[in-house]
Amino acid sequence: MLKSFLVLSAVILFEIAALTPASTLAAGPSQNTPAKTNPVKATAASQDKAKKMYSIDCAMCHGDNGNGKTDLAKDMSLNLMDWTDPKTLAGKSDQELFDIIRKGKDKMPAEDAGRAKDNEVWGLITYIRSFSKNQPAQPAAPEPAAPAQPAPPSN
Ligand code: HEC
Repeated sequence: MLKSFLVLSAVILFEIAALTPASTLAAGPSQNTPAKTNPVKATAASQDKAKKMYSIDCAMCHGDNGNGKTDLAKDMSLNLMDWTDPKTLAGKSDQELFDIIRKGKDKMPAEDAGRAKDNEVWGLITYIRSFSKNQPAQPAAPEPAAPAQPAPPSN
């Protein structure tokens, strides 16, 4: 009797483990605990890609330089944080940022797996953290706010 109870508990625990979000599982082989810090080393190519994805999927709200002062944010009454200030993202772990980007939050749409692979989301995180380090040059003429477009096929 006790034995079958133990077996049952083990099964239940296993089921609970199996139901926990698998958002980071695709990142690597058998990662049971989600990575707390960005596991993907940025390269020039990955940051180039992140910049493109950011400009298509994120900049309309968060701004080309990440300061959140965009027309769309104003129109939607979004209260966006200014990522050009190093203090803004300092208290958030890479994993927190990953989860927000993947799942969305409040009025922010989710960047789901169809739009960005795990390593691309990590690349985006490196990219948005860089706004407080080296300010990217502002484009000569700001582009008019365009409606969201589907990302071009990424692979
Ligand atoms: C429709 C506008 C919109 C778009 C597009 C958008 N976001 Fe956001 N984002 C928000 C809002 C609103 C919040 C604040 C959510 C909250 O805390 O309630 C937010 C929060 C965040 C946060 C959490 C840190 C913070 O500043 O609050 C991160 C990280 C983030 N966004 C990254 C991204 C990335 C990367 C993209 C592109 C893949 C993106 N966002 C696209 C509106 C947007």
